[in-house]
Amino acid sequence: MDIRTRAVLTGTAKDTQYNSVITPLYPTSTFRFEELGKHKGYDYSRSGNPTRGALEENIAALEGGLGASATATGMAAITTALFLLEPGDHVVTGNDIYGGTYRLFKDIFSKRGISFSFINMMDLKAIKKAIRPSTRMIWIETPSNPLLHIVDLETVIGLAKKKKLLTVVDNTFLSPYFQRPFEFGADIIIHSTTKYLNGHSDVVGGAVVYNHKALGEKIRYFVNALGVSEAPFDAWLVLRGIKTLPYRMEAHQRNALKIASFLEGHPRVKQVYYTGLESHPQQSLIKKQMKGFGGMLAFELDTKKVPLKPFFKKLKLFQLAESLGGVESLIEHPWSMSHASMGPEGLKASGITKETVRISVGIESADDLIEDLKKALGK
Ligand SMILES: Cc1ncc(COP(=O)(O)O)c(C=O)c1O
Repeated sequence: MDIRTRAVLTGTAKDTQYNSVITPLYPTSTFRFEELGKHKGYDYSRSGNPTRGALEENIAALEGGLGASATATGMAAITTALFLLEPGDHVVTGNDIYGGTYRLFKDIFSKRGISFSFINMMDLKAIKKAIRPSTRMIWIETPSNPLLHIVDLETVIGLAKKKKLLTVVDNTFLSPYFQRPFEFGADIIIHSTTKYLNGHSDVVGGAVVYNHKALGEKIRYFVNALGVSEAPFDAWLVLRGIKTLPYRMEAHQRNALKIASFLEGHPRVKQVYYTGLESHPQQSLIKKQMKGFGGMLAFELDTKKVPLKPFFKKLKLFQLAESLGGVESLIEHPWSMSHASMGPEGLKASGITKETVRISVGIESADDLIEDLKKALGK
């Protein structure tokens, strides 16, 4: 079935008592047993809840996976995947991953016996060089946040398979509508459902999607044991948001293309990063592994001519806020906001500068958004 059909229908028809078209919300912490040792499939909401279960079925179907666990946040999903490792294990990942992921790896898991190499994931030689006998996992974020570097999924996952390494792909930026890492052999897909899957900036959530039974059992065990599963109401909201994912993604992309082209031609913008622009240096890879470009873009502002503070202040439609993937356009300064947790050293390695500005393009009128940017950039 087409992804538009799956987004609306998969997993949603759960009410056999009254046949409600919408999945019921079960805000219960616990479930009554029919008799000792016998229940109707659920015993306690941390371990399983029918509303969350519906969302998990839906996300797994969108990604083409075997199953999924919906978690309280995207970071909870990432934490869960990291628990697949043992002390002594090593992970190869990008030097330009999301700041919160970088912080979790560098400040928390590396103090608990897991080591990380943060490298340029576009450089296959660098990846090969970073792999050690203790390497167990390759962590991929593509396109990267916020500079939209593309990691070659087929090549990197192929290399990982030869070396028997687990591959995890954070697919938050494109969503399954525009990229499906399981088609390239990934083992696990991570989502911050806070972003495009929910799409309305009114919930935080995450998902770990898996493609093998044994891996799924471990993930479900960890989500329950760590206590990071998603609340039923939040799961219900994400499930509601997902239904319009394909249409929202098309609208985000249409607007992003127009805004990126406008920015590229503006004399006060030094460089634009957007996968839909011909100037993006990885066009052939983009066409090979992505079904679209998405709604995220970044640019280098000429801050000598347009200082940052007044630029952000003059914007009336773009809201200065972290996060992304909602219907409203957000703008932010990765150096001091979304990626500040990387510290100056990590920021430098990632290529983010003090002039980098990130936009999550919403679904408002592109003309209105461009007018807003025009005024803030000045003549
Ligand atoms: C690519 C990516 N992965 C993971 C996360 C973490 O998700 P959450 O904020 O839902 O914990 C984010 C958050 O911005 C992100 O951008």
